[in-house]
Amino acid sequence: MGPELFLVGRLFILITGASKGIGRGFAITFSQVASSNSHFLLIARNETGLRETASLMSNHVNVDYVSMDLSLAQADQFEDMIRKRINPNEYDHAIIIHNVGTTGDLSQF
Ligand SMILES: NC(=O)c1ccc[n+]([C@@H]2O[C@H](COP(=O)([O-])OP(=O)(O)OC[C@H]3O[C@@H](n4cnc5c(N)ncnc54)[C@H](OP(=O)(O)O)[C@@H]3O)[C@@H](O)[C@H]2O)c1
Repeated sequence: MGPELFLVGRLFILITGASKGIGRGFAITFSQVASSNSHFLLIARNETGLRETASLMSNHVNVDYVSMDLSLAQADQFEDMIRKRINPNEYDHAIIIHNVGTTGDLSQF
């Protein structure tokens, strides 16, 4: 099965670190190739950045975002947050892009 087959059908796509940078790029690009009614869940701390990412995504997909500090999140809270938003039976595939993190301050190099 080639990677393109994962984009067929209704997708649930979770992207962490989606308020800017590479995570925002993933969100925009995947929204352009995902099937209609696919559901994106974007996570980061900065809600303004998440909203801006959502506004740049294709409007044929559903976009949900949650401000959350993933350095503090507990597994059960994380699972509850996802289960409140989606029913796993409604999707053909789930894709997780766990991109959260930072390259840090590179100004000294
Ligand atoms: N840029 C590069 O050249 C490069 C190269 C190799 C690997 N990477 C890796 O790729 C990933 C993304 O890099 P980037 O350059 O796009 O970084 P970035 O622009 O700093 O973006 C990092 C993302 O992670 C989120 N984030 C950071 N700490 C968080 C926390 N505690 N809880 C929730 N969200 C948090 C930030 O959002 P908030 O601040 O809103 O929370 C932001 O959305 C990182 O893991 C980085 O190490 C980057």
